[in-house]
Amino acid sequence: MRNIYIETYGCQMNMADSEIVASILKQEGYDLVDDLNKADIVLINTCSIRENAEQRVIKRISELDSLRKKRQWLKIGVLGCMAERMQDSLIKTHNVDLVVGPDSYRDIPWLLSFQGEGCGGLISTELSETETYSEIYPEKINSNGVTAFIPIMRGCENFCSYCVVPYTRGRERSRDFKTIVSEAEKLFAQGYREVTLLGQNVNSYLWNQGEKDEVNFAKLISLVAEINPLLRVRFSTSHPKDISQELLDTMATYDNVCKFIHLPLQSGSDRILHLMNRKYTAGEYLDKINKIKETIKDCGISTDIISGFCTENLEDHGLTLNIMRQVGYDSAFMFKYSERPNTLAAKKYEDDVSDEEKTRRLEEIINLQRELSFQSNKKDIGKTFEVLIEGESKRSTEKLFGRNSQNKVILFDKKDLRLGQYVNVKVNDCTSATLFGETVS
Ligand code: 5AD
Ligand code: SF4
Repeated sequence: MRNIYIETYGCQMNMADSEIVASILKQEGYDLVDDLNKADIVLINTCSIRENAEQRVIKRISELDSLRKKRQWLKIGVLGCMAERMQDSLIKTHNVDLVVGPDSYRDIPWLLSFQGEGCGGLISTELSETETYSEIYPEKINSNGVTAFIPIMRGCENFCSYCVVPYTRGRERSRDFKTIVSEAEKLFAQGYREVTLLGQNVNSYLWNQGEKDEVNFAKLISLVAEINPLLRVRFSTSHPKDISQELLDTMATYDNVCKFIHLPLQSGSDRILHLMNRKYTAGEYLDKINKIKETIKDCGISTDIISGFCTENLEDHGLTLNIMRQVGYDSAFMFKYSERPNTLAAKKYEDDVSDEEKTRRLEEIINLQRELSFQSNKKDIGKTFEVLIEGESKRSTEKLFGRNSQNKVILFDKKDLRLGQYVNVKVNDCTSATLFGETVS
């Protein structure tokens, strides 16, 4: 009864957390399986960021619950943000056996040891001010052996008014830089060639403030970059209010720090940004973009945008479209506003833009971004990029794909090339989503 199957929903942080959970369980003698049919225990790592993310998981839980008609011994555990937000209602209403929040993963083996003793559902959801799972070396799940995530901090204290994360992931805390660097070194030694440093707001990473061994985010990036020039370094996510000139200078200094920044805009209207509690204006955001463009030659820039936040009118929406054109984003994640229980926005503002109108605005945003991405990609035709090979194309076994420093996906012929190799690829064609090219010497 010790076969565990882990299913992960949501962000990159959740993927990394699932690997921490896998590591904790493996150390306790559990076996990880990659087939649900072999599992005795299913753990679902969940996301609460939008209502539809939660609905998908609720549907999945009921599918798993009905599997128990044939396999009565199957235990179902819910981890992550939904565990933290929904607490024991998951046990009472959805028949779940185990509910564990993002800071309690070390409790899972102990909680599992009670399963089968007829004690009903068990729950551990206390948030911590110190837990960073610092010393746990993650057990890779579905890894390509080339790219890896490294969480460098946990939690968020920005309290953007629409966002549930500060409530589900708790206080912001940074992980000891020594364990981050040693994890990256170990990954490199195992053949990994790219690490993405993860946090809700990486620019406020700070280890041992005021002490001799204080390390801020720019310093951390340089320490990881210095491990080996063949190890690429990426990071996500940056909050526009915190991105520093020191970080931009560090990015420009090291060839192996990828020239790509994900800088969530959310809205182009100062009035909406204020209601969102984003702590910057559109003008300040554009200043940061200009600093990026001045400091780093050819830096890829992507963003997040929310359509139809409370009280958003057509003028606000138009300002968002304007700023998208001004920046010329290479790519974007775009969402309809989804009210989350107990957030500041849910308490203070009315969710007064109709779903139909949110969808219409979102479609305009998506169409504009498709055009911007296509323009950005067309500019790359004729250029040659260094590409790290990450895998086979989904459409053709004759093609491989990788990304350039600017985070763009490029497809090219397989020949006798291998995953984890660097190749130079000359771009000869594109769509709005992908570049196509040929390897050159
Ligand atoms: N509704 C819609 N989108 C949201 N995001 C965060 N909270 C919400 C919400 N309530 C988006 C933001 C954030 C990204 C991770 O998810 O754009 O940057
Ligand atoms: Fe949510 Fe804002 Fe924190 Fe991002 S920075 S996790 S949007 S509260």
